[in-house]
Amino acid sequence: MVAKSLLALSFGAAVVLGQESCPGYSASNVQQTGSGLTADLTLAGEACNAYGTDLPNLTLTVEYQSDDRLHVLIADQDQAVYQVPNDVFPRPGSSGDASTNSSSLRFTYTDSPFSFAVARADGETLFNTSGTPLVFESQYLNLRTSLPENPNLYGLGEHTDPFRLNTTNYTRTIWNRDAYGIPAGTNLYGAHPVYIDHRGASGTHGVILLNSNGIEVKINDTAGQYLEYNALGGVFDFYFLAGPSPVETAQQIAQVVGMPANIPFGGLGFHQCRYGYRDVYEVAGVVHNYSAAGIPLETMWTDIDYMYSRWIMTLDPERYPLPLVRELVDYLHQHQQKYTVMVDPATAYQPGGDYGAFNDGVQQDVFLKNASGDLYVGVVWPGPTVFPDWFAPQTQPYWDDQFNSFFSAESGVDIDYLWIDMNEAANFCNYPCSDPFGYAEENDLPPEPPAVRNSSPIALPGFPPEFQPPSSSAKLRLRRQDGAGSMMGLPGRDLIDPPYSIQNAAGSLSNKTLDTDLIHYNGLAEYDTHNLYGTMMSNHSRNAMLSRRPQDRPLVITRSTFLGAGTYVGHWLGDNISDWPHYRISIAQMLAFSSIFQVPMVGSDVCGFGGNVTEALCARWTMLGAFYPFYRNHNELGSISQEAYRWESVAESARRAIDIRYRMLDYFYTAFYEQTVNGTPSLNPMVFLYPEDAKTFAIDLQFFFGSSVLISPVTEENGTSVDVYLPNDIFYDWNNGFSPVQGSGQTVSLEDVDFKTIPIHIRGGTILPLRSQSANTTTELRKQSFQIVVAPGQDGTANGSLYLDDGLSLEQAATSYISFTWDGSMFSMSGTYGYEAGVNISTITVLGASSQPQSVTSNGADLSATYNSTTKVIDVEVNIALTGDASVNFGQVATFRGAAPSAASTNVLLLALSVVTASAMCLLGSW
Ligand code: NOJ
Repeated sequence: MVAKSLLALSFGAAVVLGQESCPGYSASNVQQTGSGLTADLTLAGEACNAYGTDLPNLTLTVEYQSDDRLHVLIADQDQAVYQVPNDVFPRPGSSGDASTNSSSLRFTYTDSPFSFAVARADGETLFNTSGTPLVFESQYLNLRTSLPENPNLYGLGEHTDPFRLNTTNYTRTIWNRDAYGIPAGTNLYGAHPVYIDHRGASGTHGVILLNSNGIEVKINDTAGQYLEYNALGGVFDFYFLAGPSPVETAQQIAQVVGMPANIPFGGLGFHQCRYGYRDVYEVAGVVHNYSAAGIPLETMWTDIDYMYSRWIMTLDPERYPLPLVRELVDYLHQHQQKYTVMVDPATAYQPGGDYGAFNDGVQQDVFLKNASGDLYVGVVWPGPTVFPDWFAPQTQPYWDDQFNSFFSAESGVDIDYLWIDMNEAANFCNYPCSDPFGYAEENDLPPEPPAVRNSSPIALPGFPPEFQPPSSSAKLRLRRQDGAGSMMGLPGRDLIDPPYSIQNAAGSLSNKTLDTDLIHYNGLAEYDTHNLYGTMMSNHSRNAMLSRRPQDRPLVITRSTFLGAGTYVGHWLGDNISDWPHYRISIAQMLAFSSIFQVPMVGSDVCGFGGNVTEALCARWTMLGAFYPFYRNHNELGSISQEAYRWESVAESARRAIDIRYRMLDYFYTAFYEQTVNGTPSLNPMVFLYPEDAKTFAIDLQFFFGSSVLISPVTEENGTSVDVYLPNDIFYDWNNGFSPVQGSGQTVSLEDVDFKTIPIHIRGGTILPLRSQSANTTTELRKQSFQIVVAPGQDGTANGSLYLDDGLSLEQAATSYISFTWDGSMFSMSGTYGYEAGVNISTITVLGASSQPQSVTSNGADLSATYNSTTKVIDVEVNIALTGDASVNFGQVATFRGAAPSAASTNVLLLALSVVTASAMCLLGSW
């Protein structure tokens, strides 16, 4: 039974700020349903029409969808108001057996003025709208929840603010835009209206607002602490997630937005890119230079430079002639390397010519049109451009055809992965872009390409193929079908300048993007769907990649995202700058995408995109980037070259960091796989793993790669020390032979961290499957045997897992999933063994051992073990096949247990730590 609550709700009443005169709604006709309730909401007084027209009749639908998820939908009774289409964002189903009684959440409401609250079963209020009236207008929604003081809130992306959000006088605008320099406090490329509220020992919960309109979230404490949504349209479509741990909350978010797509194993290799590789010779030179420098390069990328005059689906015949590009790609493939290029949505406007991507698109009617039925023309790299309308059903086959032809393995550019950009969608021309041709000319778009080398050009026989001119002029599209039940959007709205202005850093809504009054093929307005454009391009592009290589798992990296984008693609964090603030903020950005937005294939441009990087920063960034899931060096046209081989110090840091990353790659691939199965984050903020340790709540300069490997990069210019927070737990120092380190719940300074070293600690209680050595490519890496590293925790036990598959196929014929455990003296593995790895486990390494074991046996046979009394590490040579359960008995060996070093001796060790070196931090040697 849903209780109707008239009780005062836990937090102080908030004062209405902007919409004092709005009457709110009254609930009536409340009907209990099997899994919740429905009610009518009627405007409770005279319309205030604050920023549009108040809708008189709404419907409330409350559904307990599972025991930890509650869905609350407040929509117009007529169902004319736009809602995010189900085929763009498939709604999660209901478990069917959830009810008020079984749920760990409770929905209560007050009927007049209507407000609602969500609480835990134990009574703790999580969300409470009672302080202000609900506002639901044609172009404005407002709803405010009160919160406890000083809340720990995370999410609401995309942004470059600290991972834990500011909660006073803070505005988060959500409206996708091309955001050069990714300035803090502004709206960036992606729209993720989801937050996590962490309350320490009382738990964590999540709130998703499924709404693709422009949104401004305001967080402040001026009327008690509150969080307020201001949306320019759509409906209130909330998912409340009970947690109660941060990791469980992340898993529950994934259940709503979709489990992330898995990636090819090779996608985790090191990538090199830049904007401004003049020709295919230069690209080939970079590949060669990496090889000569002994730095593993997995994937070479090319930016828009390869295109003829920046036209997508073409090659510059002089600088990137097809035969040479094919030769380059063949060379890469023969060397187990990969090739990736960029594709933008903006397609050069070239009527009357033989440009296939344009002509085909016109013929097939895939481009956005303005109200008169003419093509909508903006300005991007090629000058005047048109834009695919991803809502048109014919756009997918068109996109597939373009990919199959241009990226043909037999006759085109046989790319392995794909990069999509400018899909907010970016448009250089400000609204109203009345003269795109003049604008393009004034701004030199497309720019003159760089001079051709003497050795070029090479003729480009037969490519691009002969194209048919468009057979018909632009046709009028279906016009919008407003009205009851259509959810297509209310008629009569101002789609360009809505009465309420969100703080879009680009100015008005249509600035530097598509006009928001454009109507898509299916009748939806760009005003409502703008934030979906990048994710729809992502979905279409993934499908197009699959249409040319149906067997292969695609890797598509996009700039613009919406909730659920991770089910299709990964994301790079856009146009950062080569400076220390951007190096530092990359960690918070990446954590938000991986652990909250469920887009785990994420990373920043290593060494920075804009500006010139310094050697020291590039060395540090190359090491930090080795622990981004997506590890790519990329920079801007005109910046100094920053490939890792350009400086010896950077080359060395790259060799060392890639060596470590690659040895850990199966461990990380396993974590990534687990995220694709159940949403468990493959990167963890410290607060996720130590949710009761308040000192972790704001940390965003350290993070866990997977759930075992703590990365604590140096974060200051020319610094060789770093403040490292180690919770009260046992860790093992990667850079010091895995020596044990007792965390104290204090921050300590690691000194003498040279430019080839990044501090890495393994968390006790975990088992890492490492490759015994690294390799030049991930293909070679997969031929190396495994070293299993057992890092006992405070209780002396540990566990871990290893997922194995072919790393490539979309559908796997056979996979293995192996669980490892350490009970204090016995190592065991069990699981499913379908994939033939072709290699065995060659070493088991047990950390934190107090002595050499008397004997180590497997199936009764003695194994050879060595013991390092300084680092406390036992190495045992084994030859265990990854085809069945096995165990190794270490007899009476004593490994670390929390009780072993007395509190007193630990404290002594810690007190001696005001200055410690990276190699001697709080070593535990006496148990
Ligand atoms: C903008 C992207 O963010 C950047 O990475 C790329 O190099 C340029 N577009 C040119 O394509």
